[in-house]
Amino acid sequence: MIELEREMERVILVGISTQDNDDAEKSLEELEELAKTAGAVTVGKVLQRREQMHPGTYVGKGKLTEIKDLLWETEATGIICDDELSPAQLGNLRDELDTKIMDRTLLILDIFASRASTSEGKIQVELAQLKYRQSRLTGYGTSLSRLGGGIGTRGPGEKKLEMDRRLIKSRIAKLNRDLKEVKSHREVTREQRNRNHMPVVAIVGYTNAGKSTLLNLLTGAGILAEDKLFATLDPTTRGYRMESGQEILLTDTVGFIRKLPHHLVDAFRSTLEEAKYADIILHVVDVANPQMDEQMYIVYETLSMLGVQDKPIITAFNKCDLMPERMTVRDFKADETVFISAKTGEGVTALLEKIESVLRGQKIAIEKLYPYKDAAKIQLIRRYGELIEEEYLEDGIAVKAYVPARIYESIM
Ligand code: GTP
Repeated sequence: MIELEREMERVILVGISTQDNDDAEKSLEELEELAKTAGAVTVGKVLQRREQMHPGTYVGKGKLTEIKDLLWETEATGIICDDELSPAQLGNLRDELDTKIMDRTLLILDIFASRASTSEGKIQVELAQLKYRQSRLTGYGTSLSRLGGGIGTRGPGEKKLEMDRRLIKSRIAKLNRDLKEVKSHREVTREQRNRNHMPVVAIVGYTNAGKSTLLNLLTGAGILAEDKLFATLDPTTRGYRMESGQEILLTDTVGFIRKLPHHLVDAFRSTLEEAKYADIILHVVDVANPQMDEQMYIVYETLSMLGVQDKPIITAFNKCDLMPERMTVRDFKADETVFISAKTGEGVTALLEKIESVLRGQKIAIEKLYPYKDAAKIQLIRRYGELIEEEYLEDGIAVKAYVPARIYESIM
């Protein structure tokens, strides 16, 4: 039933190009991918070049007529604008076009709602959806009910979203309370992790770059990896034992995208903050994507917006199996780069070596003779550091190792 409802949405995408670049066109292409992910079929695209977005109707009068004709010709069921519409634009467009009006934010929120799986993810998405909706209810009480079913009306878990202003308010209050509880739980987990002394590698990247596939390959995590945007929404953390015996934690984060709605950046700040507490940022880039450079730029922008800085970055140029010839690609922000294919496994050993070498750079080299009664300390080194040499002598164990700064005191 739900699938049917999704299949039925036929949409016209509408974008504005305000500069002399082709960014708007690419953004519109991406919007088509988003629409597909949400289950809609794109039946037309309209791009208008103008100085700035029309404050009242998003596009100018002439374009409105063109869209009206196109709606009729294609029997589209709605339009999706490539920017976040103001409540006024939403209302005016509805009055002018008499069809379902959606925007990029609504679409992304809808996809996020269908993807959220952890309780925190679900709460965050529903909150973002309700806040988006709340600000658009003012004066347009009935316009949102015009959404009918389908995109924009589904909350996490296919639950219908609240429509009534009063109910929205009390639901937001409840969700905020729930969130506080879940967050404090997350803090505890993070603290435990810190106490565990395990280095954390946060996998970041543009949506569809191959983050989940890489994590699956390394740890058999069984995360959904699909050729759809935002296949994974909630961070998944898995342990991994390196060649040297050192254990690390790999954590997958939500994919980045251009024009990420600010409701979502706020909502997912805590989730994305995984990257802030990481020891290494592993940046996965889809080399087969023609918009690779821009996607990298957006990832770095988002990271800096989140306050992630001064972390060692390893960039993995992924999907190299799709590139018949190795291109010259560079990432000047990265400390290390490597070509990999998360699908075939090519280059993954080299990637792991780079992770080890960066981690080693964050460690202190020690050479020490431990009395036999301190054998437990050597266990600690083995687990969290890198034991290079151990020799059993008469008066103790001679050890050469690299240890992370955070366990240095407990092993001295
Ligand atoms: P989001 O969840 O949207 O953030 O995506 P993601 O970065 O986790 O990407 P995911 O792992 O879901 O992969 C996206 C698509 O790319 C899937 O269809 C994968 O099978 C495909 N893919 C990932 N890595 C490779 C690769 O090395 N080579 C090829 N050919 N395809 C790949």
